[in-house]
Order: sequence, then structure tokens, then C-alpha cells
Amino acid sequence: MQGKRVLLIVSGGIAAVKIPEVVRRIREQGGHVRCVITEGGKQFVTPLSLAALSEDKVYDDLFSLTDENEMGHINLSRQADVIMVAPATADIMARMAAGMANDLATTVLLATDKPVICVPAMNVRMWEHAATQANLETLKQRGVTFVGPVDGDMACGEFGMGRMSEPAEIVGALVNFFNAGPKPLAGRHAIVTSGPTHEPIDPVRYIANRSSGKQGHAIAAALAAYGCKTTLVTGPTALPDPAGCDVIKIESARDMLAAVESALPADIAVCAAAVADWRTDTAPDQKIKKQAGADTPALTMVENPDILATISKAGNKRPPLVIGFAAETNDVVANATDKRTRKGCDWIVANDVSPSTGTFSGDSNTVHLISETGTEDWPTQSKSDVAQQLVIRIIRHFEAAE
Ligand code: PMT
Repeated sequence: MQGKRVLLIVSGGIAAVKIPEVVRRIREQGGHVRCVITEGGKQFVTPLSLAALSEDKVYDDLFSLTDENEMGHINLSRQADVIMVAPATADIMARMAAGMANDLATTVLLATDKPVICVPAMNVRMWEHAATQANLETLKQRGVTFVGPVDGDMACGEFGMGRMSEPAEIVGALVNFFNAGPKPLAGRHAIVTSGPTHEPIDPVRYIANRSSGKQGHAIAAALAAYGCKTTLVTGPTALPDPAGCDVIKIESARDMLAAVESALPADIAVCAAAVADWRTDTAPDQKIKKQAGADTPALTMVENPDILATISKAGNKRPPLVIGFAAETNDVVANATDKRTRKGCDWIVANDVSPSTGTFSGDSNTVHLISETGTEDWPTQSKSDVAQQLVIRIIRHFEAAE
């Protein structure tokens, strides 16, 4: 992104509070950011903070003589390599689709011939509304590209699709956009496991765990963003398929193993799934009935196949880099170090999954990367950032091996 110029249009949604972080990250990657903010945007983030972080003037007024003399709304877009609208509210998407030009942001968008990337953020019902979906289609047909939205908790207290992508993903999308040259993981194949498994007790009941798939999906998305052919093998989750990945959806640990084995050969395997260690020894075809006076059914458990251990010991089919995760509730690093040796993987990413940490299903994670050479303690960060950092390590690993 070195030297690239991003015109960032900030519209009025609560997700605008994350935009200073987006500006900071673009700058960190060597890009220039110039911000245009709508009246609504100013309710959530101050022009002053955006000006300080971008080290540039923030534009907000279509009828400012000073601005028109200095820059002009046409030049604002001419001087950019890309225009990004983040957050893109339902309102600004509607005005873009209708070709309106009733403030500086929409005038710039109507006057531009530059690529436009929208990062939607809105309430789930607004996102699902037929009007928004029609506007989305119109904008896509006109060549606007979209980052997100994603599923998750919303500021309004609801849950669902409409939440803005995290700053790391937004900036990752910009990096991808500018990264026209060869991608560092191009030509490589990664298999990522994600989410929980569901182990049937009978046709209507199953044993599961609290994994949301957020961590595994973020890793798959980050690998794909760096040009890696990525096969994501996922248990049941509520997440959308990450962009650029081949997704295989499975239910049980045995399905997951079969899918992983069928996706081999691979250069990289990342096992982030929370695979059930056990399943019941039988799963009858018919629902187990509750019968008056009968004994409570007892479940006899048998061990599931261990996918990580199986591919770590797969002889000439073993991917050259196998990375496991370790979900621990005590002695995190010691237990994970032992698990790395026992399962035979190269690296293990240890995380504390005690309920108080919120690691399962939450948006952030505190991990330790354990390899043959030692342990690195990473700071608490979003799962997208953990994924980015891990993928950068993977890229370095292959660069060093060449
Ligand atoms: O999905 P999220 O809500 O985002 O939460 C993320 C996470 C906590 C699930 C993730 O960060 C994580 O820790 N994943 C591994 C969960 C787990 O099953 O850990 P484990 O310590 O029980 O297993 C160790 C390793 O063996 C893991 O790589 C696991 O995928 C693998 N395994 C375990 C059992 C089994 N039968 N087959 C396996 O491949």
C-alpha cells in the first residue's frame, strides 16, 4: 500500500467509531488517507481525530468556497487511487444507488471514475430489507465492491448480519486491492478446520461445544487474502463463507477427517476447529423415546479420530507446515507444549478458553505461539488480527525455507 491514496468516506453509523483505527492501520501500511465525513458521521467520530490520524484536512462541506478553491469535490476523487465508504450505512447505499448528490460524500461518489469499495454497517433488519438488498445488487452491478458485513452482536442489542468488518479485514481488503503483484502465498494450498463438530446421539440430538468458527474462518480469510488456495473445512456455524475459500461443510469429527483427507495434498494445515473428542458408540436411526418408568438412557462414549494427529503423522501426505490449536483452561502453555509434541504438529497456538476469557464465540483472543524454538506471547487482539499475525508468520516461514 506504500504511497497509495485512499479517499475514505465516513457516513453516520455507530461503526464509525472504528474508523480512526482503520485510518491508523492504512497509515501504518504506508498509505495516504484523506477523509470526507457526512453530517451523520460527525455524530460518531470527530473530524479533528480523523484529521490528526490522517495528518490531512477532513472535508465535509459541499458548499465551502475555501474547499472548492483548495481542492474541489471533483479533485477529491481524482487525487485518490480508490474510494472507500466505511461505514456504509443503508442511507448512503440508497443514495449511491439512486445517483443522488445531496452532500459532499454522495457528490464525490457520483463524480468519480475511481474504484469504490463499500463497507456496510447497519442493523440486521435494515440489511435484510428488500430495498437495501436491491441497492446492494445495483451497486454491485455498477462495479462497486463490498467488504462484509459480517454476523455478530450489534450496538442496537440485536444479533445478525450487518455488523461492520473489523479494521484488520477492511485494511486487508485494501491491501488486496493494491496488491496487484504476486501474492506471497500464491501457488500454495492450505487446509483450515474451523467451528465445532456435532456428534449425533440420535437423529434429533447431538453433542456439541461453544465454538463459533470466528477464529478458524478469520485464518482461512487471511490465507486466501495472501493468495493461498484455501480449503476451509467447517463444522456448523452461523458465519458467512469467507471470501476466496473453497468451503466444505461437515457435521461430525469423522466427516471432518474425511473432508480434510480428501483435500490433501496441502502445504499448510491449520486445525482451529473444536473437534469433539468423543461421540456416542451408537446413534440410532430413530429418536430415542422417553418412556414412563424406563431407566434414563446411558450414553457410552467412544473416541473420535484426531484430525490434527492424523495429518501430522500422514507420512508423505503430511503438509510441510501443520499448525494446531490448544484450547486450555489451566496451565495453558505447559499443556499446549505437551500437546504439540503428542500430536506431532509443528506449531501450536494456545488459548485460554475458561468462560471468563470469552475466547469461545468472542471477537478477541489472547494466544501463545509455541514452536520447536520456544513460546511467543501475543497481546490480546481481535481474532482477525490473530489470523493476520499467524499468516504473516506462515509467509515468513516459507520465505526462510526457500
Ligand atoms: O470458534 P471460536 O468461537 O472462534 O473459538 C476459537 C477456538 C477456541 C475454538 C480456537 O481458538 C481453538 O482453540 N481451537 C481448538 C479447539 C480444540 O479442540 O482444542 P483441543 O486442545 O481440544 O485440541 C487440540 C488440537 O487438536 C486442535 O487443533 C483441534 O482442532 C485438534 N483436534 C482435537 C480433537 C480431535 N478429535 N481432532 C482434532 O483435530
